[in-house]
Amino acid sequence: MARKLSFINYKGGVGKTSLIVNVGASLAEVGQRVLIVDLDVQSNSSLWLLRFERWNPLVEKNEGHIYSTFEPGVARLSDCIVRDVVRNKESGKQLPGLDLLPTTFSLIDLEEDYKPANGLPAYVQFQEQIAEIEDDYDYILFDCPPNILSASSCGIFSCNEIFVPSNPDALSLIGFTLLVEKLKLFFEASASYRVAGMDPAAQVRGVIFNSIKNKVDISSSIMRVQVRINQFKGKGVVAQDARIFNTKIRDEVIVPRSVTLGLPVCLIGDYERENTVRDDYRAVMKEIMNIPPLEGIPNGGKQPSEMGSSHESPVSPL
Ligand SMILES: Nc1ncnc2c1ncn2[C@@H]1O[C@H](COP(=O)(O)OP(=O)(O)O)[C@@H](O)[C@H]1O
Ligand SMILES: [Mg+2]
Repeated sequence: MARKLSFINYKGGVGKTSLIVNVGASLAEVGQRVLIVDLDVQSNSSLWLLRFERWNPLVEKNEGHIYSTFEPGVARLSDCIVRDVVRNKESGKQLPGLDLLPTTFSLIDLEEDYKPANGLPAYVQFQEQIAEIEDDYDYILFDCPPNILSASSCGIFSCNEIFVPSNPDALSLIGFTLLVEKLKLFFEASASYRVAGMDPAAQVRGVIFNSIKNKVDISSSIMRVQVRINQFKGKGVVAQDARIFNTKIRDEVIVPRSVTLGLPVCLIGDYERENTVRDDYRAVMKEIMNIPPLEGIPNGGKQPSEMGSSHESPVSPL
């Protein structure tokens, strides 16, 4: 059974996609079987890993992407997986074990036009189809947009653990606070669909600071986030062992450049300096691997309905 991790913050541009792609690649480098699931309508991780050459046909044929699984009878998630997604021009596998469930801009229809035939929320169907493929993977990583609308809720409902990429600024702290409040509401609203045999609701297990500029002191940001984590701990959504990662991902121009090249940072050949952002991604990967997986009942025996009520007095966002 895979560990299923969502990367989400209520703020955009904090490094969710960069972390997913580069941590996913680092996991594949050490032999883990990894599936990246692109749940962001902007399709950034799909475009990064497929580049336009392999992404455009999904759009033109309107098949092989996540939204096609919501059109009755068309496809299942298992049909849409792009195996060993990182390829060179000769189609050689460059990172065996790293697979992608791609998306296209059509995913926006899940928020607008989608009417489920059986009346069940989209995330229930999605979770059932993830369950069909999860034994094929060690890690399934959900790249979520900065909200908990329909597409994002597919990842949040299906995963066990939530990681929050963050920048050291006040807006990211607001994003974290909002996220926790919204997660609580979502888990309450979806509790009746979490039937026997399903994993319990996910918990936030860590905050990962990203894009840290050389010589910039981020200690006060770290302190503010730590205070906020401590405030939320034990209230159901934030795990008792939630932490700020020791590794902080440094800001390096190679990260946006790697998107242009269609490769994870670890595969950029001319990038052979020691001690770079590539090592940061590998260190985050090791920290994730070293966090004990949540066994059976990650929310400590409580069912979602027993979690803290959304009617508690709200915490100030700053
Ligand atoms: N460590 C980093 N160093 C430099 N640029 C980064 C770093 N992480 C992300 N970026 C850049 O910041 C922008 C937003 O990152 P992205 O991963 O797309 O965020 P999100 O998925 O949260 O919107 C992108 O242009 C990306 O290339
Ligand atoms: Mg993104």
